[in-house]
Amino acid sequence: MALERTFSIIKPDATRRNLTGAINAKFEEAGLRIVAQKRIQMTKAQAGKFYEVHAERPFYDELCDFMCSAPVVVQVLEGEGAIAKNREIMGATNPADAAPGTIRAEFAESVGENSVHGSDAPETAAVEIAYFFAGLELVG
Ligand code: RTP
Ligand code: MG
Repeated sequence: MALERTFSIIKPDATRRNLTGAINAKFEEAGLRIVAQKRIQMTKAQAGKFYEVHAERPFYDELCDFMCSAPVVVQVLEGEGAIAKNREIMGATNPADAAPGTIRAEFAESVGENSVHGSDAPETAAVEIAYFFAGLELVG
């Protein structure tokens, strides 16, 4: 399997509860390396652009309000098969369906406030990384 990079967000419900370190420990224990990371406060317009793919979904407005309700930590994770591996570590979107030991099973509060985002494919990973980071900020 190839060395990959994926994009991750520690969402406002998790930064509010001071869970950044606990979540990062899950990534590192699973063999992913955090090669870029910063804490930012998104505007609603920035959150709206990031989640544009969901613009027609009924939860879009609520999701954008949530994502700019408190700081988030944006990150690039690197490792063998990092995209799929990160989705595994995160668990299912709805914490009620998330496998034991996953981030969402342990920390998520609801299907909307579910602690983390992770890219779902190589194309989206590349676009999402470039949305938040300049090349020089990625230090593998
Ligand atoms: P993400 O994009 O954040 O990594 O999450 P995901 O792939 O597991 O889920 P996705 O279907 O892409 O949905 C994006 C985010 O929208 C919120 N959501 N709310 N209220 C609802 O029914 C609902 N469904 C989705 C979640 O924050 C989800 O992570
Ligand atoms: Mg998604």
